[in-house]
Amino acid sequence: MTQTQWYKDGVFYQIWPRSFKDGNSDGMGDLWGVIDKLDYIKSLNVDGIWFSPLYTSPGVDCGYDISDYMSIAPEFGGMEAFRRLLSEAHVRNLRVIMDLVVNHTSDEHEWFQKSRQRIDPYTDYYIWRPKKPNGKLPNNWSSMFEGDSAWQWDEVRGEYYLHLFAIKQPDLNMDNPLVREEVKKILKFWLDLGVDGFREDVITFISKKEGLPDDLPIPGFSGILKYNHGPHIHEYLQEFRRDVLSHYDCMTLAEAPLVTPKRALTYISETDPAQHDIDMMIQFQCMCADCLFSDYVPMKFSLRRLKYAFREWQTKLYGKGWNMLYLENHDHPRVISRYGSEKFRTASGKALAVSYLFQQGTPFIYQGQEIGMTNWRPERIDRYEDVQTLNQHLKDPEEKRLKLYHRASRDSARTPMQWTGGLHAGFSEHEPWFYVNENYKTVNVEAEEKDPDSLLNFYRKAVALRKSLKVVRYGKYKEYGKLSGKLYVYERVLGESERAGVTDEEPSRILVICSFSEKSMRFRMRRGIDLRKAELLLCSLDAKEASVPDKTGAFILRPYEARVYRISDNRKG
Ligand code: GLC
Repeated sequence: MTQTQWYKDGVFYQIWPRSFKDGNSDGMGDLWGVIDKLDYIKSLNVDGIWFSPLYTSPGVDCGYDISDYMSIAPEFGGMEAFRRLLSEAHVRNLRVIMDLVVNHTSDEHEWFQKSRQRIDPYTDYYIWRPKKPNGKLPNNWSSMFEGDSAWQWDEVRGEYYLHLFAIKQPDLNMDNPLVREEVKKILKFWLDLGVDGFREDVITFISKKEGLPDDLPIPGFSGILKYNHGPHIHEYLQEFRRDVLSHYDCMTLAEAPLVTPKRALTYISETDPAQHDIDMMIQFQCMCADCLFSDYVPMKFSLRRLKYAFREWQTKLYGKGWNMLYLENHDHPRVISRYGSEKFRTASGKALAVSYLFQQGTPFIYQGQEIGMTNWRPERIDRYEDVQTLNQHLKDPEEKRLKLYHRASRDSARTPMQWTGGLHAGFSEHEPWFYVNENYKTVNVEAEEKDPDSLLNFYRKAVALRKSLKVVRYGKYKEYGKLSGKLYVYERVLGESERAGVTDEEPSRILVICSFSEKSMRFRMRRGIDLRKAELLLCSLDAKEASVPDKTGAFILRPYEARVYRISDNRKG
């Protein structure tokens, strides 16, 4: 089967199913709700949907703890709703990507239940270790969700099992060929049903270093240097590709904490097939412009850090590998509250949209991002529900924790989608499973549909423009004013070899300007680009009021204004 790389022209929308839309009035989002909103999704001009897990699960980590990989959870509508969703999505030319979570399962999965009783062939499906003779734990690795050790004693088996995440998420033993066969069965099952690919959850963690040696004692992350990009990772991913994925025209997207562009190219190389295990990686660098590696170690937002991250990935992957672009997902707080300004909610949301939508790669938009949903700030700590959040900084006084959670918790991305200003934000007729953000009366789809200048309508426009410009798919990235902490300016330009197939009428060079300032700023483009001759393709704020370049080429950018220009290139003189 030839793989056509269709994802390179696409834009994706991510759905976190519990909070998207309730279709059967039980307070929980489901696939009936999604089917109901497919025309809305299509109206965003996107080409596909990535679903966070829909499988049967006890829900300790909101579906990332799976107890049956080959079924859709009854609360989401079961297989019947899924089949219907898939065909309704495909009719609208929307691709469907599933989440593949195989670093761990739920402890309620049948495999684990049998493994703890040493029932073959499941005995070695997980990573079991006896107590050390000195009574110590098998090693010093820590769980990312539970703070302390990644080892949990199991009374039934009389051994410890490894869980890099929650206690109820035991890690699979991918070194066991039988486990890899199971993964292949899962992939095949969904591909045969018609899905178009997978987002692979913490997939770079699946091969642990032999002997499970102690690691540097990094709080919360001890062990990561021994299990991230482990010894057999490429071998296993190649095996999945060779035996299953290469037989379908599908795409794969790998979540990869701490990955650098250099390392990413060992997975997604387009020049060396031996180093092409997957198609794209979810890097975390663009999520660290206001924190140190984790949202829970906050720092002041720095546009320079964000630009550095963008630049690193845009330049180092160019011509060698394909980028995945995003500013939000279900694991991070809302981007306007982080990198933009709630005071300038719409304007900063638009600037953020422009900042990443015209880069090279496949952009993803997370539910609610397109209407500018912002962080949720409950008054009480017991309102939080996420297992990761609730185990952070347990020794701190409650007030301090609450302040930190307001800023860092991924629960902010998990409040119900705000469809209307009415009951429960139009998410459900029933009391929702989780709290609705108080700002739903003003921030909602219905209100933004009516407003031609809303963020929602801007996303539609910006995505459509992006897709009409071949230079966005093929062009080279170049940044101007790298040191500015208020402006982000980049151009995309086609090189000689990339011009084939692009007509003279089509733009071969665009310039993107985004202000991250709450104040108006005078802007002048240097280096021979005369904006008086350029065509303004997109302006984030009222274009009629936009300041035009004077005879020196300077103009005023309003707070958080963003523009995309078509620059006439040398080809036409
Ligand atoms: C990934 C998921 C996250 C989940 C974790 C454990 O990082 O994106 O939501 O909690 O893996 O599965």
